[in-house]
Amino acid sequence: MSLKGKDLVSLSDFSRAQILCVLDVAEQMATAIGFDGGPRSPLDPLDSILATLFFEPSTRTRLSFESAMLRLGGQTLGFADPGTSSAKKGETLADTARMVSAYADIIVVRHPLAGAAKVMADFSDKPVINAGDGAREHPTQTLTDLFTIRRELGTLAGLKVGLAGDLKYGRTVHSLAPVMAQFGSDIVCISPDALRMPESVLQQVRAAGKQATETDDLAAALADVDVLYMTRVQRERFPSEADYEAVKGSCNLTPELMAQGKEGLRVLHPLPRVDEIAPGVDADRRAAYFRQAAGGVPVRMALIALLLGLYGARPGGEPAPPAPEPVATDQRCMNPKCIMSTEAHLQRLCHEHEDKRTCAYCEIAL
Ligand code: NCD
Repeated sequence: MSLKGKDLVSLSDFSRAQILCVLDVAEQMATAIGFDGGPRSPLDPLDSILATLFFEPSTRTRLSFESAMLRLGGQTLGFADPGTSSAKKGETLADTARMVSAYADIIVVRHPLAGAAKVMADFSDKPVINAGDGAREHPTQTLTDLFTIRRELGTLAGLKVGLAGDLKYGRTVHSLAPVMAQFGSDIVCISPDALRMPESVLQQVRAAGKQATETDDLAAALADVDVLYMTRVQRERFPSEADYEAVKGSCNLTPELMAQGKEGLRVLHPLPRVDEIAPGVDADRRAAYFRQAAGGVPVRMALIALLLGLYGARPGGEPAPPAPEPVATDQRCMNPKCIMSTEAHLQRLCHEHEDKRTCAYCEIAL
């Protein structure tokens, strides 16, 4: 089982064995960089270039990718402001992918439209890593979340994982929920009605044989969960400011509420937080979100190294399930947040399900 040359557009691209391989190599990287305070051991420097293409704001994801590549001894190039790139002149993402894959050995992309990372991967001959595509997925955040949960609680199985906040637009929870279920944990979705988890994600949890329950009562759910994963209300993804105003501040974790949580509870958050976790919670040893953010470096070091083939094949491990083959369609995707709204030159593709068709880029029903 090797990850060399693979793209990471969705976590469904990786099997459980491949995910565990990333987490195990991340532990080795953590040791090598003295992550837990131990001595550093030098790594053989990497003669490769990582491109970071950020069409949306980022602090942790971009800087931890860059830090990861620099710690591996490689180099980085890219942009954090798409206004300085030829996207501003109207260049397509497909052409950008063709060009950047001539300049770098591995590419990280974040974009406001769902399916953008798939387009990059389709047109790049170098590995492409999705650092967040609109409200769809954020697989490297999930790898960081899994690394943190395994370290903090010793397992990924048999847990009850509460996901709270903006479950509708939050891409981190769309990636995390199905994977936690595949590893054997139940999911509790905690949100107001307007921010409910999409049905397609709930279905993936249930298809993995685990429970996906829904509630709007954070206090009651808190007493019962092993992990509470808080999220920010994704203001930039709402159709209007009025829609955002109607739900903002609807989920708040305070020191008083923390008193209801179990001894062994861990609170995670992909960050940035706005007002959903009171600063008074930070001193609680169960608050793991800053440790979680730090873990982004060894995890991304491991991912880069594996996709570049620095760590070879391992015996055993099931292969990733084959991705469903998309088929050509004449139907237009009407989702304005789909990459097909700007890459109109591309062949329209869909996935055919038993009773419906979804756009192969954003997975919204056609
Ligand atoms: C998240 C993201 O960009 O989706 N941030 C991150 O990468 N750590 C969460 C968010 O912006 O709320």
